[in-house]
Amino acid sequence: MKQIFINMTVAAALMVAGSAMATDMPAVGKAKCGACHAIDKKVVGPAWNDVAKKYKGDANAASKIAANITKGGEFGWKMGKMLPKGMGATDAEIKSLSEFIAGLK
Ligand code: HEC
Repeated sequence: MKQIFINMTVAAALMVAGSAMATDMPAVGKAKCGACHAIDKKVVGPAWNDVAKKYKGDANAASKIAANITKGGEFGWKMGKMLPKGMGATDAEIKSLSEFIAGLK
């Protein structure tokens, strides 16, 4: 009986972890960044979860990320060069995506 209880606890914990991992990319991100980025895996560019880790604890993370997205180029990932503004994102879209990326865990 004790064993069953432990298994149920583990199953519940996995369900919570599973739903946390299923964070979805905002629609504008899919349209203008999704060709090269995913949240949880490398594509052409780094996983956005990894970008969030890079800036963890940085109070200015969102504005630094926004500046990098706007100017494009290389940010030390050694994956090539990013196009400035991705595939034509507006400044407002870049701001909201940067906040989304900085807020990932
Ligand atoms: C054509 C492919 C491509 C598109 C489209 C693209 N990226 Fe990137 N992105 C890259 C690559 C390649 C890198 C890594 C550059 C390097 O090696 O440092 C990168 C890096 C990044 C980084 C890391 C910045 C940092 O400070 O470390 C962020 C954040 C990012 N992209 C966000 C976006 C967003 C948001 C969009 C859509 C508006 C977007 N990207 C569209 C290819 C792309």
